[in-house]
Amino acid sequence: MRRADFPQDFLWGVSTSAFQIEGAVREDGRGPSVWDTFCATPGKIADGANADIACDHYHRWESDLELLSGLGAGAYRFSVAWPRVCPQGAAPVNAAGLDFYDRLVDRLCAAGIEPVCTLYHWDTPQPLEDAGGWLNRETAYRFAEYAAVVGARLADRVGKWIPLNEPMVETLYGYATGEYAPGRTLLFGALPAACHQHLAHGLAVGALRAAGARAVGTANNHSPIWALGDSPADHAAAGVLDALINRLFSDPVLLGSYPEELLPYLPEGYAEDLPVIAAPLDFYGVNYYEPQGAAAPSPGSPLPFDLPPIEGYPRTNNDSPIVPDGLREFLVALRERVGPTLPPVYLTENGCSGVDEPDADGRIADEHRIAFLDAHLRALREAMDAGVDVRGYLVWSLLDNFEWSKGYAPRFGLVHVDYASQRRTPKDSYHWLRGFLGGRE
Ligand code: BGC
Repeated sequence: MRRADFPQDFLWGVSTSAFQIEGAVREDGRGPSVWDTFCATPGKIADGANADIACDHYHRWESDLELLSGLGAGAYRFSVAWPRVCPQGAAPVNAAGLDFYDRLVDRLCAAGIEPVCTLYHWDTPQPLEDAGGWLNRETAYRFAEYAAVVGARLADRVGKWIPLNEPMVETLYGYATGEYAPGRTLLFGALPAACHQHLAHGLAVGALRAAGARAVGTANNHSPIWALGDSPADHAAAGVLDALINRLFSDPVLLGSYPEELLPYLPEGYAEDLPVIAAPLDFYGVNYYEPQGAAAPSPGSPLPFDLPPIEGYPRTNNDSPIVPDGLREFLVALRERVGPTLPPVYLTENGCSGVDEPDADGRIADEHRIAFLDAHLRALREAMDAGVDVRGYLVWSLLDNFEWSKGYAPRFGLVHVDYASQRRTPKDSYHWLRGFLGGRE
């Protein structure tokens, strides 16, 4: 693919998140988050890793932004660490935390890079979790207060706002299966956490607009769901999984409704929040990695589906099947289902992990990532040709980083990080993307 295959004003960039790169977890007044607590709990993170230092981006942000400029990126999606700005969840505000993002945004603007600001990438302040976290409706109101604080400081310069990253992952991994912080294992009892995150989103949209935000959207993780089997029971199982992974997160914000089959699991009075949740958006951000397979549940399963692996495709070292056409499939189906009211779409994350170690000459030859990105751009172009209004594409991620419960082994960066020395080395994919953005590919 070539840059010229996309509209001239198409937005190109990269994404990161605070907890995965910043480190400095105890500096300048930052309070603990659920992920600090989770990392400190034995057995939760591969190799017992934590993100106390991660990529040390809190201290190295200026040189990291130079890497971004060197790439020719037009946008940078970062997240603000809620516990850095509001260590207790809302007031009091920690000025030093807010100052960090103020400097970052200033520098981005000076470099001609559009700041795309996520307010929440899973790092709930621990005091809020102690009060029930996302199972407590009050958390949504604390989030709105925090959104107003950050909005008041940065809305004059931030180009796009994303209140919450992937409420699906937070709900299902954080509260249903416990694979991620805060490690609750409530299965369908987790669904109120989704409703309260939606309310937080809706209230934050209002707070950000009141602060003068230019554009507000989402970053929802989506996957086409494939029934792996032909029986009606396999298809029914795929339907429930689709409701749980996709429609539970797209429909409240886009259509003002929840999927019918999940209504029994929602908290009382959920419908009253829908008008706030469905406030009009300027864009719909989609994070795409892979399709999900579903089949009829095995006898005795506590869930209404099995999750068989998708076979027949190459896999990343994070064990994701590589299925670029799943991106086209999902976007086209979303556009068909939602219709012309679907706001412009941005791919707010897409990328892959690899082992990505330097060779004897220090070069990181990650052809697998170049092939991955190229194939996904082709699928994106096909979705656009089929009528989906896509306006931008952000690669996950700029740097190798802390990959949540998998620790540091899956490397997602365009830039390699040697965690012992904190040395950054652009991989071949970084050079490829720079050539692409400069029109040389
Ligand atoms: C998340 C990132 C994560 C990436 C790769 C996304 O779901 O937003 O934080 O690193 O997937 O697994």
